[in-house]
Amino acid sequence: SVLTDLIYGGSNAVAGLTEGAVNDAIAKYGADKKLAFPDTAYFFPTIYAATGVKVKTLGDLPACVGVLKSLITNKEDLGDALNAGLATAVGAEIIEGLKYVEGGDPYAQDSGIGFVPDPIIRSLGVPLVTGDIPGVAVVLGKAENPADVVAVVKDYQNKGIMTFLVGDLIEQAIDGGVKVGLDFRVVPLGHDVTSVIHAVTVAIRAALIFGNATPGDLAGLLAYTKERVPAFVNTFGPLDAVTVSAGAGAIALGFPVVVDVDLGENQVPGALESVTDHGQTVAKSLELRKIKIKMKEIPVPVAFASAFEGEIIRKNDMHAEFSSHKNPTCELVLSRGKDEITDHKVEVNGPDIDGSTAPVEMPIAILVEVFGEKMQPDFEPVIERKIHHWFNYMEGVMHTGQRNLLRIRIDKAAFEKGLRLKDLGEVIYYMVMDEFDNVVDKCQVTIYTEKDKVEEILSTIAMPTYGKRDERLESLNDETVDTFYTCILCQSFAPAHCCVVTPERTGLCGAVSWLDAKATKELTPTGPCQPIPKEGCLDELKGIYTEVNKIVEESTHGSVSNVTLYSILEDPMTSCGCFECICGIMPEANGVVIVNREHKGMTPTGMTFGELASMTGGGVQTPGFMGHGRSFISSKKFIRAEGGISRIVWMPKELKDAVADKLNKTAKELYGIDNFSDMICDETISEDSEGVLEFLTEKGHPALSSDPIM
Ligand code: SF4
Ligand code: NI
Ligand code: NI
Repeated sequence: SVLTDLIYGGSNAVAGLTEGAVNDAIAKYGADKKLAFPDTAYFFPTIYAATGVKVKTLGDLPACVGVLKSLITNKEDLGDALNAGLATAVGAEIIEGLKYVEGGDPYAQDSGIGFVPDPIIRSLGVPLVTGDIPGVAVVLGKAENPADVVAVVKDYQNKGIMTFLVGDLIEQAIDGGVKVGLDFRVVPLGHDVTSVIHAVTVAIRAALIFGNATPGDLAGLLAYTKERVPAFVNTFGPLDAVTVSAGAGAIALGFPVVVDVDLGENQVPGALESVTDHGQTVAKSLELRKIKIKMKEIPVPVAFASAFEGEIIRKNDMHAEFSSHKNPTCELVLSRGKDEITDHKVEVNGPDIDGSTAPVEMPIAILVEVFGEKMQPDFEPVIERKIHHWFNYMEGVMHTGQRNLLRIRIDKAAFEKGLRLKDLGEVIYYMVMDEFDNVVDKCQVTIYTEKDKVEEILSTIAMPTYGKRDERLESLNDETVDTFYTCILCQSFAPAHCCVVTPERTGLCGAVSWLDAKATKELTPTGPCQPIPKEGCLDELKGIYTEVNKIVEESTHGSVSNVTLYSILEDPMTSCGCFECICGIMPEANGVVIVNREHKGMTPTGMTFGELASMTGGGVQTPGFMGHGRSFISSKKFIRAEGGISRIVWMPKELKDAVADKLNKTAKELYGIDNFSDMICDETISEDSEGVLEFLTEKGHPALSSDPIM
């Protein structure tokens, strides 16, 4: 058929190009020349996942070209032709990989970013499982009418879809006013059609990172991407053979392709469809991938979407600012009695942001009063923390901080569109009623902007409430509660994973605290967080409970049947892949190393974060390695079975500084050690084993004199 001819034409062309490029590169640099994509533990991810081969040098590539060619049978059969599409993916990966042969960033001069590093993929885990990012779009080509691609991409952005752009439509989108960048969920990859592989390897690495896919198990890989990665492809403009064969690769991975040219009888229903009316492109794509968007229709004059969360508003662009550095500020959620508040009463008490010349600087107190039969004071801070996200979802509004220390900026464009303080109140009202409808029956929002009034609220209501909450949090620990919670949100990616969330151990993503889990149970009774009665204690010190084991076993459908809450060696908790930090044993130091996701450099284990992480994820128990949240580091329960925090010998400086105060307090209470964090090595002191040991010896670090850790 025309279609299979096109696919084979493209695949053969790519095969030829790839073979030539590999031969040229070997002639120029030699077969021993090292070759790697930046910041990944998965080599050439497509080749690694599909065949198990770890490409490390140019000399590894000719064999891969052989595999690639064997995938192209040129037989008149759609299944065979889709395999040829995979060959195109492999070829594209090699051609793109060769761009990195000289080191440095080959994409420095391109408006695309090229290869997407592992940490970015890990950071997408939680928003993908919560549906905050409902899908992934790959949009490539060049639109005949630029306005079409602009409208489509903006529509995806407003729906929170993560969109990758390939080809000349990158400039069309940017020129048309689309805000691009990871923070805006619109990521330009590159101009060559081969750069589409950088979107493909995101899906493939998701299978490796979260799905525990076995390298070499191609069938397993294809099943994972088809079932669990909600991606699809849109092409703009005329199709050439290479684009069509790349599209066949996408279809083989389970990603439907919507093209804007009429393919007539060459369409493959459900997999390759023509939509010539661009007004229907988005709807058709979402339908093909069965992506449902929970649209938030909020009556405010600016766009409202999670895709705007990362937007930064600079001084010169702002119309108004509420900053605790300059004026009193606070935000507070309080529960009230049924008759004390009026539902949907949204009031601004004091001057609004219009009237004066920019930048308007004002005090602000945002008081959100709620009533609900099932409302509990413990849920107040959970709702309050969401204000930060909801404000950031508004295009042209930036929010940082919380409680009485915050900064809100409103930019000039938003002001000109008519955004006023009442709209901020409306957003809170609608979102509280949308997300917390199970516990909130009535909600009233009042925004105060007069200094005296704000100060009065601060001193009489806000500060005392924060104080009481802090006392509650201080007294909350694993001993004082009788219930822990599961979180299985990440199972959509890591089917065998289950977090056990306790007051001292937040979910390893850092986003689900014990209070959050408790609220989630109340909000969605059959949802991802289920209670675990703290019963059947077998070993209090190590944290072994028959109920924990039982419920984890149920929650993981039998994959994991024993979890020791406070151990890294004995049945440690599983990791899905989106952990904030990873802890690994450093045997020669008789201790452990902790590294956070943001840290790019080496660790004294001889592995980077990415390399450590690749041994830890996928919902399997890996004794000696453990993913966890930042806040767990200063807990008295942190690897208590192995001696606790006195085993920590190395952390990146940024992480160490961030946790130092709390860590030192814990070390003082547990061991009577002052300034324990000063005994912990970091990358500014040494990254290698010898240097670390020298430092530890000099400091008299307690790990060195402890029992052997293993
Ligand atoms: Fe995923 Fe665990 Fe975070 Fe839940 S708590 S979202 S399972 S990492
Ligand atoms: Ni967020
Ligand atoms: Ni996860």
